[in-house]
Amino acid sequence: MDLTTNYMGLTLPSPIIVGSSGLTGSVDKIAAFAHHGAGAVVLKSIFEEEILFEYEDILKEAQGEGVNLEQFDYFDYYLKGKKLSSYVDLIEAAKQAVDVPILASINCIYSHEWIAFADRIQKAGADALELNMFFLPSDFERSAREQEEAYFRIIDKVLASVSIPVALKISHYFSNLGPMIQKLSRTGVKALVLFNRFFSPDIDIDTLKVKPSFVFSSPVELAMSLRWIAIMARKVDCDLAASTGVHDGPALIKQLLAGATAVQTVSSLYRHGPAHIQAMLDNLKNWMKTHDYHSLADFRGKLSQETASNPAVYERVQFMRYFGGEKDGT
Ligand SMILES: Cc1cc2nc3c(=O)[nH]c(=O)nc-3n(C[C@H](O)[C@H](O)[C@H](O)COP(=O)(O)O)c2cc1C
Repeated sequence: MDLTTNYMGLTLPSPIIVGSSGLTGSVDKIAAFAHHGAGAVVLKSIFEEEILFEYEDILKEAQGEGVNLEQFDYFDYYLKGKKLSSYVDLIEAAKQAVDVPILASINCIYSHEWIAFADRIQKAGADALELNMFFLPSDFERSAREQEEAYFRIIDKVLASVSIPVALKISHYFSNLGPMIQKLSRTGVKALVLFNRFFSPDIDIDTLKVKPSFVFSSPVELAMSLRWIAIMARKVDCDLAASTGVHDGPALIKQLLAGATAVQTVSSLYRHGPAHIQAMLDNLKNWMKTHDYHSLADFRGKLSQETASNPAVYERVQFMRYFGGEKDGT
């Protein structure tokens, strides 16, 4: 049975990609994922914000101690170098340790910062680069158009500076999601990852404090990415990777049937450990055997919107008849 998949021009031994997270921040963990059948690994993102916060803290401390601030131009550079060099070390060590593709990930806010990061990452030997890009639509100074243009500007700059394949991981916060995904797929990125899931706040009604909401996804969160993978599968000019809510073999199979080229998972691996990849792949193999499929291409996209026998189901959003006596709720 052939589980290989061609994702962004890279050959992955299986369709499961370990998504960017703290799980992929050490070589030992990356090796364990590869050992248990991961097709590729996306390293934790390097965050421009993180570097800047780190710098601001040191700056404040130094101001308190009466240090001459002129030296901080150099120090700023040094800090970035330090943060980057440990990331570069991680890429190099991961490449030495495993045979599966290693995708680096960058989260930046200012377009000029990306360029230096992307170039260093390519030189370190990453097989591909995943751009983790997100502007929370709560910026009242910028229009939706300005927000969207920032994506295209940054992609252009990154594509002009690296030759390794580039993927873009996005959220579903766009005013016209379908056309936006399609336009992004035509920029030259080799894949789109639908969708990122973010840290969300919650409120503790006893302490009257804001606290973090659930860090990990739940299986019901599969629905959003499943719908959009299915809708976009035959309408984009690049590969699609599904992300969010993939916790088990059936969820993996569903995303492939919807049209995903590869499937990312994170929360399931935090919960169950690296051996869970093998369990999901066993599930996939058994299912393929039952349906007499020999490769992923035999069934990928079979239930995308374009190929499903009832395509309208992917565009149905209201529960119009759900409680009106219809048996199947459709
Ligand atoms: C603890 C944690 C850390 C994460 N860090 C990153 C990150 O650095 N970069 C990124 O693009 N996504 C990050 N994510 C998001 C995941 O890559 C993934 O998109 C999200 O968890 C949804 O997938 P899941 O349902 O399989 O968990 C993180 C998720 C978690 C739970």
